[in-house]
Amino acid sequence: MAAEPRTSLLLDEIVVAAARLAEAGVDSPRADAEQIAAHVHGVRRGELHRVPDSVFNPRFWDEIARREAREPLQHITGHAYFRYLDLEVGPGVFVPRPETEVMTGWAIDRLREMDVAEPVAVDLGTGSGAIALSIAQEVPRASVHAVEGDPLARSWAERNITRYVDSYTAGRVLLHEGDFVSGDPRQGLKELASLAGTVDLVVSNPPYIPLGSIVQPEVAEYDPPAALWSGADGLDAIRAVERAARWLLRPGGLLAVEHGAPQGAGVFWVFPEEAGWRDTTNHKDLARRDRFVTAMWPGE
Ligand SMILES: C[S@@+](CC[C@H](N)C(=O)[O-])C[C@H]1O[C@@H](n2cnc3c(N)ncnc32)[C@H](O)[C@@H]1O
Repeated sequence: MAAEPRTSLLLDEIVVAAARLAEAGVDSPRADAEQIAAHVHGVRRGELHRVPDSVFNPRFWDEIARREAREPLQHITGHAYFRYLDLEVGPGVFVPRPETEVMTGWAIDRLREMDVAEPVAVDLGTGSGAIALSIAQEVPRASVHAVEGDPLARSWAERNITRYVDSYTAGRVLLHEGDFVSGDPRQGLKELASLAGTVDLVVSNPPYIPLGSIVQPEVAEYDPPAALWSGADGLDAIRAVERAARWLLRPGGLLAVEHGAPQGAGVFWVFPEEAGWRDTTNHKDLARRDRFVTAMWPGE
């Protein structure tokens, strides 16, 4: 039987690279090898078969070695895709995850249906700016105050806000330095003082991993610690979001907060009726795991 004709040098190298990534424990080895190949050769994934053998770039193998060492794909390509955004990411900022797209979609739907001319949202712990920019992009009437405590993460948010400044998000994402976790939100979120009691929606993907948990190497070594860990039960920052939200929200304002899959019941009880919250609801992500809680603040 005749051997199968070779399709192209690059496609053959991708097959070898995918096997190496699988061996290294990478979750989606073939897709990552293809995305790295596309990035290195400056083409779309669907155009890889068109790259002539003569222009194969050996830098492909350098980047595959980085991924083999479990550096996140998004740090290698410098980009993370989130809803309709192409965000710049790298060392010092949390790589936005697909799970968060579902909660962001919930926030966008609620803001769109609100009977408010120009709704105001607050994103606590904005990181790359993923949630805040999506809201501004998809709800053209809304403005978003994005809070970030870490200076390096804030510089990535600033970069992404600037990246979209020419589009119709311009001027509607306002970046603030602030600390929503430690102490009184009136102190930590001083820059938002004029918004107290007026905000239509608070959204947050805070740090929520219990200290001492085992996480993937990509997370442990490349996501910033401030984006991950949050006390013995992982709920410290979520309890702080509760305090900040009751200070910021107007009567009837809404809250959405992301959490880890096993934390649905724990987070539900951070927003109980006894503390004044209404309509507290658990929501699932696309993999049908508990992923975020929403609630309504009726006012004091
Ligand atoms: C899990 S990341 C989420 C980033 C982004 N919202 C996303 O979904 O991709 C949490 C973010 O909260 C920020 N953060 C953690 N503690 C904070 C605090 N006390 N005050 C302000 N930001 C904080 C971290 O620096 C990090 O950027």
